[in-house]
Amino acid sequence: DWKMDSFAEQSIKKLKEKIGDKKVLCALSGGVDSSVAAVMISKAVGRQLTCIFVDHGLLRKNEGDEVEKIFTEQFDVNFVRVNAQQRFYDKLAGVAEPEAKRKIIGEEFIRVFEEEAKKIGTVDYLVQGTIYPDVIESGLGKSAVIKSHHNVGGLPDYVDFKEIIEPLRDLFKDEVRKAGLELGIPEKLVFRQPFPGPGLAIRIIGDITEEKVKIIQEADAIYREEIANAGIDRSIGQYFAALTNMRSVGVMGDERTYDYAVALRAVTTTDFMTAEAAELPWEVLGKVSSRIVNEVKHVNRVLYDCTGKPPATIEFE
Ligand code: XMP
Repeated sequence: DWKMDSFAEQSIKKLKEKIGDKKVLCALSGGVDSSVAAVMISKAVGRQLTCIFVDHGLLRKNEGDEVEKIFTEQFDVNFVRVNAQQRFYDKLAGVAEPEAKRKIIGEEFIRVFEEEAKKIGTVDYLVQGTIYPDVIESGLGKSAVIKSHHNVGGLPDYVDFKEIIEPLRDLFKDEVRKAGLELGIPEKLVFRQPFPGPGLAIRIIGDITEEKVKIIQEADAIYREEIANAGIDRSIGQYFAALTNMRSVGVMGDERTYDYAVALRAVTTTDFMTAEAAELPWEVLGKVSSRIVNEVKHVNRVLYDCTGKPPATIEFE
């Protein structure tokens, strides 16, 4: 409608007035919200904005390169990609407990971000991709912590800045997407499904190794490709492959194998607080499973997760 069509334009105008000639810093995750917020600011003040993108080595296949390409080639910002993969793998080595993994990633993320931010010096504004549902949710004062969520919401204490800017604070997700398209952000990014801050770490049950990350990146890429080929990607709330920490016996040619089982998850949901397992067409599941066992080394079994939330959560950890 006419109101939204001009939302991005009006915001850019207001941001330009507010920021003036000051410096702005943004933690870019590659997700929809932080990307739309960053692009909006960049359209307002160009290179007064620096975006820091921490690649923790737990992103989906090619994701780091894709984010870098979009922001360096399409938009006028100072883009800093920090390749911190090894740092995170080292810290995570041998750690199997889900909350411990989340904590390590959250803390290391802040440390890496802080180091980069120091190089830039004092900034005036920090951008956050907070959207309206985040505002409501944080006001509820949840009593029980089921999972310690990691995202850029935890940064302000650690960075030297004067004020937070939240250009998407009044918007619902669909409005953020609409603004994103209006700003010229590629559809692939605008309609990206949610991806958790700790990334693939919470889709690998138990301890993390580089090999396990590779396995799940490959399996997940095949799954996403086939879901897109089937034309059902926008009808599923969230879908991904996870690496169970289970190995089982299989057979390949005349040989016995003892390899990993990959679990496929797909859910439909309105608010991600509850969810139902999606009823994917059997042909799609069959195709994905045969491609995964054929194309991904060290996987000999593919399972489908039929559980709703509750009692399961959407992610595996
Ligand atoms: P669960 O697994 O709790 O997930 O059912 C609900 C939704 O939240 C996402 N999720 C996260 N997002 N940081 C995030 O930014 C996190 O630490 C995190 N953990 C879960 C999950 O992908 C799903 O969309």
